[in-house]
Formats: sequence, C-alpha cells, structure tokens
Amino acid sequence: MIVLTEQDNIAYACMNSIGNSLVLEDMLTDVISTFISHTEALGGKYILSHPLPKSIVSIENDFDIPDNLSHETEKYMIYPVEPNRSVLDIPIGDEHFLFAFEKGIDVDTYGTIFASFKTKLAIAIEACRSVARLHEINSASNRQILEAGSKQEATEQMLMTQSRMAIMGEIIGMIAHQWRQPISVIGMIANNAILTMMTFAEINQQQLLRDLNIIDQQIHDLSSIIDDFHNFFRPAKIPQTVTLHEISNGLITVLGITYKNIGINLSFECDENICFVTYKNELMEVFLNILANAKEAFEERRVSNPFIRFKSFHNSEMICFTIQDNAGGIDKDIIDKIFDPYFSTKKEKNGTGLGLYISAVVIEKHLNGSIRASCNENGSVFSISIPINQATDTAYGS
Ligand SMILES: Nc1ncnc2c1ncn2[C@@H]1O[C@H](COP(=O)(O)OP(=O)(O)O)[C@@H](O)[C@H]1O
Ligand SMILES: [Mg+2]
Repeated sequence: MIVLTEQDNIAYACMNSIGNSLVLEDMLTDVISTFISHTEALGGKYILSHPLPKSIVSIENDFDIPDNLSHETEKYMIYPVEPNRSVLDIPIGDEHFLFAFEKGIDVDTYGTIFASFKTKLAIAIEACRSVARLHEINSASNRQILEAGSKQEATEQMLMTQSRMAIMGEIIGMIAHQWRQPISVIGMIANNAILTMMTFAEINQQQLLRDLNIIDQQIHDLSSIIDDFHNFFRPAKIPQTVTLHEISNGLITVLGITYKNIGINLSFECDENICFVTYKNELMEVFLNILANAKEAFEERRVSNPFIRFKSFHNSEMICFTIQDNAGGIDKDIIDKIFDPYFSTKKEKNGTGLGLYISAVVIEKHLNGSIRASCNENGSVFSISIPINQATDTAYGS
C-alpha cells in the first residue's frame, strides 16, 4: 500500500484545486487558499511583476512584495522581508506566486512542494486566459454578427445573383448552341424553297407542305428548348418531391448535348426511382456549378477521354451524391480555399470564384446539408449530402 507523506498530501490537495474554475481569479484564489490552509503560510498572492508589480489575487495577511523579483529561476526563491519574515516566490514567466512565512519555518520544503505542481498550474492559468480570450472574441463577434447580420444577408444575396448571372451566361451559350441546328435546318429549307421558285417559277405544293411541316417541327423544338431551360430556373418557394430520374434528366436536358459534342462522357449511376423532398432547382444549380467546373478543368488541361461520374447513395435520412471527374484533381494547396468567395484559378478566363461558394451556401444554409471536395487517382470528387426529406417548414424562396 502506498503511504502518502504530509508533503504529498499538500501537493495532492493543491493539485485538486487547480482547474475547478476556468475564471482566472477564482482558480488562483482556490489554489492559494488551499496552499495556505495546508501550510504555515500567513498569506499568499499572485502578482504580475513586470512592468510594475501588480497584485492579481491576494489572500489572508498582506505583506510587502520583495524588490527585484527574479523570474530566471526554474523552481523557487526565498526572500527575507520586514518584519522578520520570509517570502517564498514561485515565478511563472513575469508572474509570481508569493507566500509569506514567519522566520524559522522550513520554507524550502514548501517551495519544493509548490514547484512540484507548478507546470500544471502554469497550463491551467494559460487555459483560463484562453477561455477569457475566447469569451471576448465571441462576444465581440456576436456583436459584429448582429450588426453585420443584415449586411451579410444582403451580400450573400448579391453574390448569389452574381453567381446566377454567371450560370445564366453559360446557359444562354448552351441555348444558342442548341438553337443552331434547328435554325440552320429552317434556313436551309427556306433557301431551297427560294431557289426552287427562282429556278422553276412555280411551287410544288406537296414539297412546300413537307417543308412547312419540317419548319413547324423545328420551331416546336426551338420553343421546347426554351421551356426546358425556363422550367429549370423557376425558383420554388416550397420543397418539392423529386426523383433521381428527374435530376439526371434535367441535367442531360441542359448540358447533355453540349457535353456530348465536346466529347465528355457524363454518366449517372443511381437508383433513378428514389424520391426525396428538396428545393430541386437550388440543388440543380449546385450540380450545374460542379459540372461546369469539371468541363472547364477538362478544357484547361486538355484531358483526353474526359468523363464525369454522377453517383448517389441514400439511407432513411440522407441522400448523398458524388460527382467525380478525371481532370487531374485540385491542388492540395488550394483545396481548402475553393469554397471561399472570389477564389478562382481562372481569373484570366473570367472565373468569378463564386460557383462553389454559392453551392456551399445553398447546400449548407438552404438545404441543411454538407458539401466537400477531395481528390482520387483520376481527379476531383465532390460529395454532397442532404436530408432525404427537407423539412417543409423551412420555407425558402429565392
Ligand atoms: N473539377 C475540378 N477540377 C479542378 N479544379 C476545380 C474543379 N472544381 C473546382 N475547381 C477549382 O476551384 C476553383 C473555384 O471554383 P468556382 O468557385 O466554381 O469558381 P470559378 O469556376 O469561377 O473559378 C476553380 O477556379 C478551380 O481552381
Ligand atoms: Mg465555377
């Protein structure tokens, strides 16, 4: 059995009193009073010696602070003070624990005891100060948040609009691209008809009817392209039930032709019948941002056989999507910054640096989910998870 000596008992009691409170003055008061009550000390203090001596805590009998306290020593010092007393000094940096004793007391032993838990005490003091600093920062930032709350909302809204404009620009490019074919078919038919009329000075009625039917069909295609894009961007005020089929179909409608034309293999590996409740267009906007980034990375790095794999998994609470590409990935020096507003490596090519920032705002704030980026051996992997049943009371309208 281990038998504790009187010295162990004092050290044990003092150590026990460390850290009971995270308020510095309370913690120091605890430790100093415990030490005084277990020893023959007349009083104790914790002081700051530099630039001028300043008492932080003082307990029981007061006493003079010795001149020229040294903080060089690792353990402790003993100074004679008037009237006929000794002061035990245990320095911690520019600060000191001081205890006064009557002359003749074995202060050395008390010094050794106190020095035995000095490191733990120094750490606890630092911890108290860190907590105080945190409180200060917290209340300052709370104030700022309150003041900036409405300002931040306005900024977010503005960034969201900028990001939408960037996507819209891209979408208009795609509409133009998809319109090119029907328009050139109409143009060709019109030219042929004009040529026939000029050459033969008469019109073959049957031919004209066929041509007009083709023109009608092409005009129908033109208008349905517009409808597809229009529906896609109509913001919803309440969450809707969506299937993965609608999501993949929507993305193929908007991007499919363009991506196919430039040779990007966009594949979907998911159970298309899964239903979930969310703000569909918000989610689609995020997917569009990620898919647009992959396309830009393919172009920039001249990737041969580019592919994008869109997968999904789910359980009863969450649905997760991963979007992987083979564009070589994102440098580890910048991967932590890509969700920051205005961070872009495409500044020369008019990158806004807003796509992923807005995507993170949408996923985290509006859809109550999470988004992160990582890399695998081929390229980037964006993982998104959102609740499978977006609470209907979190009504959000954009
Ligand atoms: N699939 C990807 N492959 C490589 N880099 C990517 C990919 N997706 C995003 N990035 C990086 O993240 C940055 C931020 O993307 P984003 O916020 O959409 O802004 P922008 O596309 O306007 O640059 C991009 O500039 C790019 O460096
Ligand atoms: Mg982008």
